[in-house]
Amino acid sequence: MLSRVVLVAGVPGTGKSTLARWLARRLNGVHLNLTRLVLEKGLWTSYDKNRRSFVIDYERLLETLRRLFAGERLIVFDTHWLEVVKDANVEPDRVIVLRTNPLVLAERLSVRGWPQRKIAENVEAELLGVVSREAVECFGENLVYEIDTSRVAVQEAVKLACKAIEERLSSCCIDWLSVLDEKELIRVFKLVEARG
Ligand SMILES: Nc1ncnc2c1ncn2[C@@H]1O[C@H](COP(=O)(O)OP(=O)(O)OP(=O)(O)O)[C@@H](O)[C@H]1O
Ligand SMILES: [Mg+2]
Repeated sequence: MLSRVVLVAGVPGTGKSTLARWLARRLNGVHLNLTRLVLEKGLWTSYDKNRRSFVIDYERLLETLRRLFAGERLIVFDTHWLEVVKDANVEPDRVIVLRTNPLVLAERLSVRGWPQRKIAENVEAELLGVVSREAVECFGENLVYEIDTSRVAVQEAVKLACKAIEERLSSCCIDWLSVLDEKELIRVFKLVEARG
């Protein structure tokens, strides 16, 4: 039998792990995190010094996911990368995509001490809704439900996610280019320029 799976996606800093932890508790399920899984099980082939990230061993990761998702408990899977979940033939109950105002996101990532270039890349990805687009491409718009974590507190986001799962709600896709005013957009573009 295959597990029921809820995906929690979003660019780094949107609050995936915070939400997924609470959601798993609320739904009496298990919280799994892609990055932790890759590191704990050594599912990488090399380390890219420039990008400060691991190069993933895709085939081994797929095998591991298939094995994990073949259990019986509900899994809340916390991931910034959805294609791999689709390639593992997982059919999620719902794909919760967390969105964050790019200016708030830049602040959260800078508090972590991340380099300007990495902040710029992620602010740009959020501005363009890259993860939402990937979610729609992989699983279809009907399964995707976005929550803006720059506007709602953690417990409110958990409630919204539970309701979306129970009532099979969908909502997509926030377009920051039309939400932010001119001054805010200029600040965001300045941040993105640091990408070089
Ligand atoms: N709903 C929310 N409202 C305000 N702040 C939040 C909310 N959810 C998370 N945060 C804050 O945002 C920051 C990032 O959260 P978290 O580590 O859960 O993000 P993440 O998406 O898992 O990031 P990464 O992909 O790097 O692991 C934390 O400081 C957290 O306290
Ligand atoms: Mg996380």
